[in-house]
Amino acid sequence: MSKNTQVLIDSLPEGKLSESNYKLVESPMPEASEGEVLVKTIAFAITAGTRAGLQGSASYAGAPQTGIVMNSLGVGEVIAGDNSSFPVGMKVQARTGWQSYSVHKTSELTEIPEGTDPLHYLGPLGINGLTAYFGLLEVGQPKTGETVMVSAAAGSVGHMVGQIAKLKECNVVGVCGTDVKCEKLISDLGFDAAVNYKEANFRQTLKESTPNGVDVYFDNTGGMILGSALFRMNTGGRIACCGVVSQYDTSSPEPGPKGIPGLLVNKRIQMQGFIVFDFASEYETARSEIIKWIDSGKLKILTDEVKGLEAAPTAFVDLLAGGNIGTRIVRLDLE
Ligand SMILES: NC(=O)c1ccc[n+]([C@@H]2O[C@H](COP(=O)([O-])OP(=O)(O)OC[C@H]3O[C@@H](n4cnc5c(N)ncnc54)[C@H](OP(=O)(O)O)[C@@H]3O)[C@@H](O)[C@H]2O)c1
Repeated sequence: MSKNTQVLIDSLPEGKLSESNYKLVESPMPEASEGEVLVKTIAFAITAGTRAGLQGSASYAGAPQTGIVMNSLGVGEVIAGDNSSFPVGMKVQARTGWQSYSVHKTSELTEIPEGTDPLHYLGPLGINGLTAYFGLLEVGQPKTGETVMVSAAAGSVGHMVGQIAKLKECNVVGVCGTDVKCEKLISDLGFDAAVNYKEANFRQTLKESTPNGVDVYFDNTGGMILGSALFRMNTGGRIACCGVVSQYDTSSPEPGPKGIPGLLVNKRIQMQGFIVFDFASEYETARSEIIKWIDSGKLKILTDEVKGLEAAPTAFVDLLAGGNIGTRIVRLDLE
C-alpha cells in the first residue's frame, strides 16, 4: 500500500518564513469514508495569501497551527470513493494542501470539465484568476479610457488584472520588483507601462507613467506602493484592496500609509476590501468568460512550475522574495 507524502508546518515563522518551518513526512494512506472521495494530487498552487494564514492575519484561515499539512488549492484525480457525481477518474479542484493524497467531502470539490487543462484551475480558472476578475470588474469598476494601476503586477493575480483591464480598454500601469518583470509586462502582456518599485526614483517614475493620474488602483501589496498610489489617485477613483503582500513575511507589519483618511476625503476616493469567496455564486459565469479570453488569445497565462513536493517550501520562500513570474505551481505528476 503506498504512503502519503506530506509537507507539515513544523513551526510558525518568527520574522521571515524559512524552509526550516516545514518538514516532509510519510504518513499512512488516507481512506475515504461514506460521502467522501480520495484524491491523488496532480499539482497545487503556491500563493502569497497563505503566508497571511501563517501570520494569523487572514480572517478566513483562522489561527495558525503547527503539525498540520500546509494549506493550498490543488487539482487532482479521484482515485477511490463511491459517488456517481465524482466518479473515479474525474479531475477535480480541491484544497489538497501540500500532500500526495487527500480525502474530501464531495461538497468541497469542483469538477474540472473534460478537455480543460486541470492546471488552469490553479491559475485563471482558480482562486487567483477569479480574484483578478471580480476584484477588478466588481470592486474597481474600470471604465474605457481610465488608468488602472496594479501592484505585484507580474504575480499570479496581478498579471491577470492588468490584461483584463486592457480587455476593458483601459490604460494599464503595473508595479513590480524587477526590470525583467517590467519588460515582460509591456512586451508580452501589453501593459502600457511598468515601474520597478525597488528603484530609488520609483515615485517620480510612477508619476511620469501615470500622466493622467490613476482611476483604479488594484492593491496587492499595501505598504509603500499603496502610499504612493494614493497620491496619484484621481478624484472619484477606486482602490480595490486585494491583499497586503508587503506586510505578510514579517512578525511586525508596518502601520497603514499616510494619506488615509485625508486623501480619501479630499479626492472622494472609494477604498474597498474584498474576499473572492463573496462572489462564489458567480464563479461559473466568470470562468466561461475567462475561458473565452484564453481560447481567443486575449488573456495570456503565465505559469511558473516547480517539480516535486520537497521543492514546495523553497518555492514559497522564493515567491515571497519575488522569484515568481505568474502563477507558481508545484507539479506532482512529473515525479
Ligand atoms: N482578496 C482575496 O480574495 C485574495 C485572493 C487571492 C489572493 N489575494 C492576494 O493577492 C495578492 C497576490 O497574491 P498572489 O498569490 O497572486 O501572489 P504573487 O503576486 O504571485 O506573488 C507575490 C508577489 O508579491 C511581490 N512582493 C513580495 N514582497 C513584496 C513587497 N514587500 N512589496 C511589494 N511586492 C512584494 C513579489 O513580486 P515583486 O517582484 O513584484 O516584488 C511576489 O512575486 C496577495 O496580496 C494575496 O493575499 C487576495
